Amino acid sequence: MTDVAPRDGLQNEPNLIPTADKVRLIELLARAGVNEIEATSFVSPKWIPQLSDAAEVLAAVAQLNLPNPPVFSALVPNEHGMDRALHIHSDSFPLKIAVFTAASETFSQKNTNTTVAGSIARFGAFLPRAFDAGMSVRMYISCVARCPFDGPTDPDFVRQIADDLLALAPAGAIEAGCVEIDLGDTIGVAYPDDIKSLLIRFEDEIARDMFVLHLHDTFGRAADCAELALALGVRSFDSSVAGLGGCPYAGTPEKPAPGNIATDVLLNTIESSGYTTTINKDALAQATSFAQELLACPRVEPAE
Ligand code: HMG
Ligand code: MG
Repeated sequence: MTDVAPRDGLQNEPNLIPTADKVRLIELLARAGVNEIEATSFVSPKWIPQLSDAAEVLAAVAQLNLPNPPVFSALVPNEHGMDRALHIHSDSFPLKIAVFTAASETFSQKNTNTTVAGSIARFGAFLPRAFDAGMSVRMYISCVARCPFDGPTDPDFVRQIADDLLALAPAGAIEAGCVEIDLGDTIGVAYPDDIKSLLIRFEDEIARDMFVLHLHDTFGRAADCAELALALGVRSFDSSVAGLGGCPYAGTPEKPAPGNIATDVLLNTIESSGYTTTINKDALAQATSFAQELLACPRVEPAE
């Protein structure tokens, strides 16, 4: 289980949250036993002001005295982001990175100011540096069921993008478990049948533990989609503590982008499907309360 709240959960929050509170949220999630935490983004601060303190957050997280540290990851969209991530990555604090594209041309433009092919070409330019440094790489594909602008997504297009992304991995990286494809239902509209139509395009690969499902939960169907995906062999899921989340470039002021499936909801789904996790429920409840308080507390205004 990957908790994406510190990244996906906070990126859409208009008021700046103090760095120390972000670090505390990450610490509580780590102590709750999640396997991975998507801690922040090395994206342009002009595009996502909330996460402009990415380096400070990760430097503080590296100093935490955690008994069982999870994997820590951060989004990287381009060379500049790669420079910033490599500055933090070290033997004692290995960082995983996440690149992101979409199965929609309009969303890709709105989110990263380039075409789908343009985003993949960008990754091709800097990913060798990540692999050379020993980083693991997550590869997101957004809008796998539907785009808020372009409508329904063709699952064959998703498969094509996944193949193009996987072609960027050096020999042996996939087999070594250093690469994963993360399928994002960005606006939380998928039905279990949509997930099934998608996953059957990847039949042979699902068992390889290479796929992650990233479900937003607009209509309360994310748990059903996760249950179906578990039955089809997916073993890795993203969620967000307290259900925070949403991509600012997937919504409008009238209709903001929805949050991710809540971590406790995902946990119940996994357990009721007969699987165990590493989560401590009391510690997760503490992290959930803190996340809820965080968004209810007075805000710090952005610096000029
Ligand atoms: P651009 O405007 O084309 O980039 O944006 P640029 O190269 O022209 O740079 C513009 C300015 O940003 C320059 O500064 C750069 O230096 C700076 P200036 O010269 O004007 O002062 N800049 C940076 N600064 C720090 N770090 C960087 C960086 N890059 C440029 N890495 C870009 C292109 C990709 C940068 C931009 O579109 C961007 O940052 N987009 C990110 C948007 C984002 O974070 N969206 C949310 C995450 S995706 C998501 O939520 C979906 C997901 O959850 C899955 C799902 O739900 O489906 C993952
Ligand atoms: Mg998301």
